[in-house]
Amino acid sequence: MKGVILAGGLGTRLYPLTKVTNKHLLPVYNKPMVFYPIETLVNAGVEDIMVVTGGPHSGHFLSILKNGHELGIKHLEYAYQENEGGIAEALSLAKDFVDGDSSVVILGDNTTDYDLSADIKTFKDGAVVFLKEVPDPERFGVPVFDKDNPGLIAGILEKPKDPPNNFAVTGLYIYDSKVFDFIDQIKPSDRGELEITDVNNHYAKAGKLGFKELKGFWRDAGTFDTLLEVNNFWAKKAESKK
Ligand code: G1P
Repeated sequence: MKGVILAGGLGTRLYPLTKVTNKHLLPVYNKPMVFYPIETLVNAGVEDIMVVTGGPHSGHFLSILKNGHELGIKHLEYAYQENEGGIAEALSLAKDFVDGDSSVVILGDNTTDYDLSADIKTFKDGAVVFLKEVPDPERFGVPVFDKDNPGLIAGILEKPKDPPNNFAVTGLYIYDSKVFDFIDQIKPSDRGELEITDVNNHYAKAGKLGFKELKGFWRDAGTFDTLLEVNNFWAKKAESKK
């Protein structure tokens, strides 16, 4: 299983902070944000990791991550996303790195204390998304459960005005090698991006989109309020370990 962390974009919702560095390198308590998804992968036994980045500050990743060894990564690679082409386009840059294997993909601004080890061990084929109950599902992808097949998702609605339930599709995904064929088949959305939700909906249509409820803490940190929330969570967690 290969690991891919998607850490591109301009992070415009966090201007002016992201005028000076990449969003995923902003502090979350005592570490840069991207350390958290890296730790999630390393703790789950993923040894080969690619960081896909982009934007004007992408060089900062090399300064802090170097070859990844200090963080427990055996083999670290980087890819550069030229434009704001979306999450699925960013993932497509990892095709040669994944090289026919399965991959666990995490959005670089998603932090969680969930342990992925068991899900990685039991993964066979198709795709798995991780769901978390949230008070504001309209900000996220929201699953439509398959009534006839418990354990499967029939489709995902991206940021629906009227969500059918309170689950968010988090930015953690496990894919088999078909993900890159599905990315090739999708078209840019209204916001001009290749959407990961469209990729996941290809799996859903094929009856191959499984889900797991994510137990524990999960939050993305793309806005000032969620960045503060995430900082507070990890500060408290570090305090409780002292
Ligand atoms: C993306 C996905 C969305 C998912 C979210 C999780 O949204 O498109 O389905 O729920 O990440 O963080 P974005 O943050 O790009 O708007």
